[in-house]
Amino acid sequence: MRLTVDGQSFDIDADPQMPLLWALRDLIGKTGPKFGCGIAACGACTVHVDGQPVRSCSLPVGEVSGAITTIEGIASAGKLHPVQQAWLEEQVAQCGYCQAGQIMSAVALLDEVADPSDDDIDNAMGGNLCRCGTYPKIRAAIKKAAALKTAGL
Ligand code: FES
Ligand code: FES
Repeated sequence: MRLTVDGQSFDIDADPQMPLLWALRDLIGKTGPKFGCGIAACGACTVHVDGQPVRSCSLPVGEVSGAITTIEGIASAGKLHPVQQAWLEEQVAQCGYCQAGQIMSAVALLDEVADPSDDDIDNAMGGNLCRCGTYPKIRAAIKKAAALKTAGL
């Protein structure tokens, strides 16, 4: 089957029931998305399909028909995505394990809501767990990313 990932086309030989996460990591080499719980409960594996955040650990690859974007595909022309830039400036990450998923959920939120409220952030990010407790910094970084994005940076 053919998948479009981060703007590139990949032909893979996979059981259609294989979780998208394994196709990305093991067959395509995109190791940015992480395996956390495997049951759609933590968000570490979050990628986008046609711009919508999905839990790739629980989505059979055979059911994916849209373009997939991983954390490895959101920077463009050598420039970090505003969410990545804000994450760096706010020094959000601790162990870092959950952060690719957090960033992908934040990117999807800002694509929908340019200036999210605390409630918007809680609703959009509630499915992304962080054992290190970086939630206050995540919130600050999303607000900074919103400002960067609005300013066209
Ligand atoms: S690994 Fe997919 S939601 Fe936890
Ligand atoms: S930074 Fe360690 S789990 Fe989130």
